[in-house]
Amino acid sequence: MKSIFSLTTMFLAGVGLTTANPVPAPQADTTAPGPYHISGFFASKAHLSSYCRFEFNVSAPSLPDPVTCSAYLDTGFSGATWLAYVYEGAGNCNSGAVTWTFWHPRGAETDRNDAVFNVTVDGEKGTYIVPKEDIIVNLNDVNNPFDNDVFYGGPREFDIVEFPAE
Ligand SMILES: *[C@@H]1O[C@H](CO)[C@@H](O)[C@H](O)[C@H]1NC(C)=O
Ligand SMILES: *[C@@H]1O[C@H](CO)[C@@H](O)[C@H](O)[C@H]1NC(C)=O
Repeated sequence: MKSIFSLTTMFLAGVGLTTANPVPAPQADTTAPGPYHISGFFASKAHLSSYCRFEFNVSAPSLPDPVTCSAYLDTGFSGATWLAYVYEGAGNCNSGAVTWTFWHPRGAETDRNDAVFNVTVDGEKGTYIVPKEDIIVNLNDVNNPFDNDVFYGGPREFDIVEFPAE
């Protein structure tokens, strides 16, 4: 009997200690962190240039204010029929809580690919597939293979609702 009593006392003491300490808010494991709302989405490679400019604003439940992001990156050559690869760390935002990537696989004008736009807010990555139909390629001059425009022509405002588990 004595040993059982001691164990009970220890157990109760443990419970008392736990409740006396600040308890962290429970993590919403099953709830998606988004949606992340994107507005003003712009991505364009101007003709006769190999450089791409990206711009957008993002708002998310965990962000107190909308965050503005941009990038200016080289596609490799002015005849590109794809948008530049924004690798992790290459995009800028005016908040350290947000990072992003944009990957448009290379493809000929007649054989284009969807792009993948990832936005990470407070460590939670959301993924948005940009349909290939939303990326416009203009071969401006059939005699000049370096004179191509590539730009995003889809909706400038959309929600990111896919949050891949990693
Ligand atoms: C982002 O939001 C700011 C502030 O409202 C605005 O001035 C800017 O034009 C927006 N950027 C884009 C790409 O829409
Ligand atoms: C974007 O996220 C997807 C899904 O997690 C991942 O497969 C892909 O590699 C990411 N893209 C980049 C450029 O990191």
